[in-house]
Amino acid sequence: MVVQTQAITQTKKDILALIRPDMERLNEVVRTTLHSEVPLVNQVAEYLINAGGKRLRPAIHLLLTRALQKECPDTAYTLAAVVEFIHTSTLLHDDVVDESDLRRGRQTANALFGNAASVLVGDFLYSRSFQMMVSVQSMRVMDILADATNVIAEGEVLQLLNVHDPDVTEARYMQVIHYKTARLFEASAQLSAVMSACTPEQENACAAYGRHLGAAFQLADDILDYAGDTAVLGKNVGDDLREGKPTLPLIYVLEHGSDTEKVMVRAAIENGGIDQAHSDFSTVLTAITSGGALEYTRQLAQREVSAAKAALAFLPESAYKQVLLDLADYALAREV
Ligand code: IPE
Ligand code: IPE
Ligand code: MG
Ligand code: MG
Repeated sequence: MVVQTQAITQTKKDILALIRPDMERLNEVVRTTLHSEVPLVNQVAEYLINAGGKRLRPAIHLLLTRALQKECPDTAYTLAAVVEFIHTSTLLHDDVVDESDLRRGRQTANALFGNAASVLVGDFLYSRSFQMMVSVQSMRVMDILADATNVIAEGEVLQLLNVHDPDVTEARYMQVIHYKTARLFEASAQLSAVMSACTPEQENACAAYGRHLGAAFQLADDILDYAGDTAVLGKNVGDDLREGKPTLPLIYVLEHGSDTEKVMVRAAIENGGIDQAHSDFSTVLTAITSGGALEYTRQLAQREVSAAKAALAFLPESAYKQVLLDLADYALAREV
């Protein structure tokens, strides 16, 4: 199934209009460095990369680099592509683990090519990103990216341990989203500072911007998994509940819902299998929307957005800084 996502993609394109030439150059680097002699590798990797995606993590690296030093050295495009490859490989693996069949408005790679091809091409993208990061010849860069990649893997495993567990707390949930999502945004932003000879304080501020934006981004993703529109989102709404994944909207109901709602949501997490076609789906959805769970999640995300913006206070005013501020809002306001 091909789903139309153009209208919303347009909104994101507008935000990034300022760095359109940079994004085009990034695409060029992505295309040329993706190549493999093995046809299936190209086929699967290009299938997902060509489907687009928002390219938010590399955009942050490029914008922050320009905000810090006006110029954008060649290494910035390499690192932006590295971050996008790491992200893409996590998606290939994530869709296998989550048994998802829709991504970026297309069938997922696992649905089309199978789990084995997805996992293996995900490994190819990871290792290609290592080859590229080595080319930058900076120990700090390798240190940050090696740690980030390792923490993302830990986050996905932690999440696996949480699945079907209705006793997951908000703190355990927050740890998962920091590990699996915020950490890569953080690395992307921190690398801009590292490559721009910033002070340690400025580097910390850049890292904080990425980390807070990333946390807001995943909180918004977990809202959209209930309140989004599959046709706009380009991925299936309701996947988290079907999987029995205890995200914050469900955790909130378990803490604040009525006794009936608590019993129902506990069972939904423990047993999984409640997809949009299931009669209990709308009951769970009502418990989430009417009881304030989405509002609570949004408030938490808004705090992260504000913290991300505050972290950029040290930057001199520029058009790039303004886009970085807008991107923090977009991380939560987005519909895709
Ligand atoms: C999806 O990330 C995975 C999450 C961290 C929620 P994106 O929403 O950035 O995915 P693409 O690259 O735009 O498809
Ligand atoms: C984000 O979590 C996955 C990674 C960071 C790899 P989700 O499982 O919520 O992402 P989507 O919704 O499939 O994009
Ligand atoms: Mg997933
Ligand atoms: Mg999700």
